Amino acid sequence: MLSRKITVFITILCLTTIGVFYRSGSGSGSASRILSIYSNLCACEKCLTEGDPDFREIMKASPKPFLSREYETTQEVFNWWKRLQSNKDPFDFYNTTVKNLFEIFPPIPPLIESSPDRCRTCAVVGNSGNLKGSHYGPLIDFHDIVIRMNRGPIKGYEKDVGTKTTHRVMYPESSTLLDNTTHLVMFPFKIKDLQWLIQKFAPSKNKAAKRIANKDLVMILNPAFMKYVHEMWLKKKGRYPSTGFMTLALSMHMCDEINVFGFGADSDGNWYHYFGAVNKNLRTGPHPGGQEYDILQQLHKAHKIHFYNGWQ
Ligand code: C5P
Repeated sequence: MLSRKITVFITILCLTTIGVFYRSGSGSGSASRILSIYSNLCACEKCLTEGDPDFREIMKASPKPFLSREYETTQEVFNWWKRLQSNKDPFDFYNTTVKNLFEIFPPIPPLIESSPDRCRTCAVVGNSGNLKGSHYGPLIDFHDIVIRMNRGPIKGYEKDVGTKTTHRVMYPESSTLLDNTTHLVMFPFKIKDLQWLIQKFAPSKNKAAKRIANKDLVMILNPAFMKYVHEMWLKKKGRYPSTGFMTLALSMHMCDEINVFGFGADSDGNWYHYFGAVNKNLRTGPHPGGQEYDILQQLHKAHKIHFYNGWQ
């Protein structure tokens, strides 16, 4: 009898809780939040890996996004990656360089997994001129993870691009000094880029030498992940993915909800920037800019990501 009373009490309590959530604020949003908690994927209203078996297949095919001491690059991946560079150093030299890298850098902590009790939100911020006048700044800053790229500046552009940066994806030629709390995500195109990291972070007698970033927050993209993005996402179009598209693919391993800002060429097909002088010669180079943009649109239409296309 007592246990029946307890069951009735618990049932009423659950119904009341659902009722309160349903009536408060965004109504159906809160109800779907409760349902998604019970769907076991994440605590966002919609989780990236929910539904769509094709999408899940592509995700499953991914190698580890970051290099680590334990990760072994295959000869096949190395051969693909070698094509992107002009110097022809052999596989052994690559392996020794990677080994030397991890004498300096601590192991990368594992990525936070999705879980029914958390909602990991990401803003992926490219450098497109369509950010100018967008007033996206506060919205971008609202995300848990804000990933920026290359030299995309903040100072003077706060209203449109925000102020928060948790990660910056860059390579030596596009590098900029990072503060102590921002992850440097290195996008290596060549062995020289790995050597550059070693040179920048190796213990130096010159204590005054300025560190480019916090050594404990350096993450190095895996060449196998580049190859995977080129083959699985871009169907081998272009020579290799752009920094922006690689960052988008990376965010799929870090976030449950992805909002994309600052992508898109101008009407002449130039990758114009929200900063600096207008340059009419910024074609998309070795990257399949059109293909990348189409995939972005498709992901948006399929509600996998939300693409904010700016104002210009
Ligand atoms: O120009 P940059 O390579 O620094 O920009 C970072 C990324 O932002 C690019 O790799 C590209 O994916 C994206 N971008 C874009 N449209 C622009 C400029 C940049 O989609 N007009």
